Amino acid sequence: MTISIIGAGYVGLVAAACFANRGFKVLISTKNPKKIKMINEGKAPFFEPELDGLLRKAARSGMLQASGTRAEAVLNSDITFVCVGTPSAADGSIDLNFVYEAAEEIGRSLRKKGGYHLVVMRSTVVPGTTDKVREIAEKLSGKKAGKDFGICMCPEFLRQGQAVYDTFNPDRVVIGEHDRKAGNVIEKLFKKFYKGKKVPILRMNTVSAEMVKYVSNSILATKVSFINEIANICERVPNVDVYEVAEGVGLDRRIGPLFLEAGPGFGGSCFPKDMNAIVSFSRELGYQPKILETVLKVNEEQALHVVDLARRSLGGLKGKIIAILGLSFKSDTDDMREAPSIRIIKKLLEEGATVAAYDPVAASNARKIFQNRIDYADSALECLRGADCCMVVTEWDEFKKLKPRNLKRMRGRSIVDARRIWDAETLRRAGFKYSGVGLGK
Ligand code: UDX
Repeated sequence: MTISIIGAGYVGLVAAACFANRGFKVLISTKNPKKIKMINEGKAPFFEPELDGLLRKAARSGMLQASGTRAEAVLNSDITFVCVGTPSAADGSIDLNFVYEAAEEIGRSLRKKGGYHLVVMRSTVVPGTTDKVREIAEKLSGKKAGKDFGICMCPEFLRQGQAVYDTFNPDRVVIGEHDRKAGNVIEKLFKKFYKGKKVPILRMNTVSAEMVKYVSNSILATKVSFINEIANICERVPNVDVYEVAEGVGLDRRIGPLFLEAGPGFGGSCFPKDMNAIVSFSRELGYQPKILETVLKVNEEQALHVVDLARRSLGGLKGKIIAILGLSFKSDTDDMREAPSIRIIKKLLEEGATVAAYDPVAASNARKIFQNRIDYADSALECLRGADCCMVVTEWDEFKKLKPRNLKRMRGRSIVDARRIWDAETLRRAGFKYSGVGLGK
């Protein structure tokens, strides 16, 4: 069975590398010539743990080929996964142009193709989109879905930084099927891929599957904003620690321990975009989603709250040097999309502070955003030198290993730990003025 994948972003490329390493022939297509070259050389075009190794093996074995010719990839395969980007439009709604463009190309290719073909929507799309893709494909191919070709919607739930692990070890596989045959074909493929592993497979219609993805991300984002709000209350209560509270709460199986880490707010390519898309979708349907709107508002303010902690600690930000440890939206990724560091740094600069920043992998992406408005250090130690305040924005492991003597390279003694990676007592005993998100005074 040959699989074609349209789009070589996180979702498409990780899927391609994983399928190819499990014995499937994969043809991946992207419009980006640089990416095509890198993939064919077995190199990952972005930082994602384990991806490089898988791509190297896939390129060597010849099981993965990248090209710019989508139509050919569809013609020469049995199943096509649509993994194109679905960015936010200016009003927060989802921009589906890449999806419809892919649908048109698939439709035109299907016209020329004999035999059954399955189209699998993998991009995150608002409910109803897969059905529109079906209409486009039917119109341009002159064929009938459910008979000549099949269409499914199978959302992905990959976390950046753990995308390869998540692909091989999903909590569940959701199959949204237009018709029974399409569902059977994709279920067979997933069963082969997960051979020997017990993975729950759920089957439903395409619209419910589209909704599952938004609801999953909405609940997770809600948990993060919820715990950040509780953190802000905790900070006003002497001696209370939101991390202890979250542990006490999370052991209740009805609640669960994950996504209760207070911090500078959520970022990344999914939560902010998906939350805005579902809010906008809901409003279009005539319903104002109050909880979801508030989740976004709390998140927006949380980054500024971290700046408040620094302002209070230093008694003002003008003329102060702030060392920012971590720029990416979370650890183990170089992704800067919607990273809380962006809002934090913009605010610090606005208030007249000087910013020096260090991130183990995200500096080159950060340069595209801040250019030369901030200083980029080559190490955490260099970043700390001469700073008035150190602010932990991303929870990279290497920062956790820093000792009080390392932090004494700063000229000041202020610490704002937005990820709570350090022990407050140890640092206070060492003479630091430590403020942590969710830590009562
Ligand atoms: C998310 C979903 O987890 C994944 O299922 C979906 O497919 C894509 O979106 P990702 O964006 O890679 O994945 O990151 P995730 O680990 O979910 O974290 C999102 C943001 O929330 C990060 O900025 C992270 O720092 C923040 N977060 C997460 C917290 O602040 N606290 C937590 O407890 C958990």
